[in-house]
Parts: sequence; structure tokens; C-alpha cells
Amino acid sequence: MPISKPSARKVLMDAAIADMDSDAADALEKRFLNQLVLANGTLKTTFARRLTDVDALCNEYLRALGEPVRLLDVAVSSGITTWEWVQALDAAGIDFELDAFDLCVDASIVSLGERLHVLCDSGGRPLQFEVSGRTIENTFGETWGRRLRRALPVTALRAWFALRSGSADSRTPVQLVTRHLRDPGRIRVFEYDLQNVRELESRYAMIRTANILNLAYFDRRFLEKSIADLASRLLGGGYLCIVRTHHDGSNHGTLFQRTEAGLEVVARIGDGSEVEAEALGDTVTTGLSGSA
Ligand SMILES: C[S@@+](CC[C@H](N)C(=O)[O-])C[C@H]1O[C@@H](n2cnc3c(N)ncnc32)[C@H](O)[C@@H]1O
Repeated sequence: MPISKPSARKVLMDAAIADMDSDAADALEKRFLNQLVLANGTLKTTFARRLTDVDALCNEYLRALGEPVRLLDVAVSSGITTWEWVQALDAAGIDFELDAFDLCVDASIVSLGERLHVLCDSGGRPLQFEVSGRTIENTFGETWGRRLRRALPVTALRAWFALRSGSADSRTPVQLVTRHLRDPGRIRVFEYDLQNVRELESRYAMIRTANILNLAYFDRRFLEKSIADLASRLLGGGYLCIVRTHHDGSNHGTLFQRTEAGLEVVARIGDGSEVEAEALGDTVTTGLSGSA
């Protein structure tokens, strides 16, 4: 069987991770979350400290508000960068509540006897099999070598699970985010589709979208609609931050403010957001140019 990675039970359920040294637990969690292949074939990959300058810019504007704020972080993946924002908010002395969502958050660990445990997404699709303590992701892999090694065990496990899943011994709900965010209180993480964002009940002082509203992922029409939907969830005077991290690690983004006329640019990082035009539309004025 191919190389074994950390199991969902170990990282998401096992109380042992709570007793581990924090760095060791972070490393284990990172190995697990970054190698998890989702049902649509994408990875839950994000990188620590990729948004530090974005956190600083956002917090500068939030602190100036001088009051408790409600925040939304969009498409948070494993939530590592959300957790870093939380720490930066605390360090800046900002009183906040934070909502965070991603398309894939809710999952369950389905146990069939002592030896087979299967991590499934909210649609019941297996993501990872654990057999007698060894794990295998539910994917054939990218290269021919990997496909050759994995095809037989993955096919057999898929078939076995399809036959037996109806008679599972237990199903334990888990969330596919860093343990730091699995703490109800001022942080709420939920599974949600960006396309439904207009239906969210809350209004926010700031909404952050990092590495999702990109021309590489979506066409202009979708981007325009998504940005308008997000802006509709802002309080008057609230901020929308749209940022993309380039391959060299540099961030390029724009902080918009909701005004009566629509969105207005108040600050930029790097070259600004590549979707500024989609955010501003034809009718809205740009207030300020240059980098923040
Ligand atoms: C590259 S990650 C961004 C993670 C984090 N914001 C960062 O910058 O480090 C993109 C995330 O977008 C999520 N995503 C893709 N389409 C989505 C949608 N329609 N609604 C919500 N999340 C979505 C994916 O599941 C993935 O976790």
C-alpha cells in the first residue's frame, strides 16, 4: 500500500493531538490538511504567513473604527490564514466576532469495525481510507507511477465502502479546518458556497476574500456578481478586501469601502486587485490610488 499519511482520526478526533506540543500538532495538522484531496480533485492547501501584510492593512482600518466588529473570511480552506488573522486581531486589541466559510468544511468519520475508518465529505464521498492504522487518499493520483500503485487498493476500498457504508458502526462529525478554529465562541466556521452569499443573514464590518476571486478561477461575469453579492453583506461604511498571492509570495489586493454610491477604493497592497474593474463597475469612483 502507498505511503501512509496522518489519519483523519488522529488529527481531527484523537484527544492526543490536544496534548501534543503545539509545533508538533501544527506540523501533523498541516501534513494532513495539505494532502487531503477533495471530491472535486482540488487540495485544501494554504500556506502559513502568506497574508501577514493583508492582516496588518485590514486591522489598521478596523482599529480606526474603535468598536466591536463582525468579520467574514471567505473560502478559508484549512483556515490557517484565518487563524493568523485572529491572532493579529488579538494582538491589535480589536474586539471581534468572525465567521469563516469554505465550500468543503463539514465531514464525518465513518467507522466499519475496528480496522476500517473512512473520512467522508458532507456529500458522503470518501476522502481518506484508514485500514489497520494505515491511510490512503481516495484518489488515483496525478502521475502514471502513482496511478499504477494506487489503482488497485483505491478501487478495492471504494467498492468495499460502497457495499458496507450502510452498516457503519459509527459516524462522527468533524470539521476539515485547523483545530484552532474548532472552538465555538467568537469564531464560527461553516460549509457554504460563495454563490449563495447574498442569503447570509449577517452584515459585516469587513469581508476578506483571499485567493479565490481571481481571473484564473472565474469569468468576469461570475466575479462581478460575487463581488456585488459580498458587498451587499457589508454594513454601510464596511470594507471588502480582495487579494491574490502570486507565485513569488507577494500579495496584490485592494481594500474597498461600501459607500452610498457603491464600492470605493481606499487602499492597495502591491499592484492592487486584478478584479478592481469588476468590483467598481462603470458607475463608481475610485477614491485613492497607490500602494498601501
Ligand atoms: C486557494 S484556497 C484559499 C485559502 C485562503 N483564503 C488563503 O488565501 O490562504 C481556495 C479555497 O476556495 C474554496 N472554494 C472554491 N470555490 C468555492 C465556493 N464556490 N464557495 C466557497 N469556497 C470555495 C476551496 O474549497 C479552497 O479551500
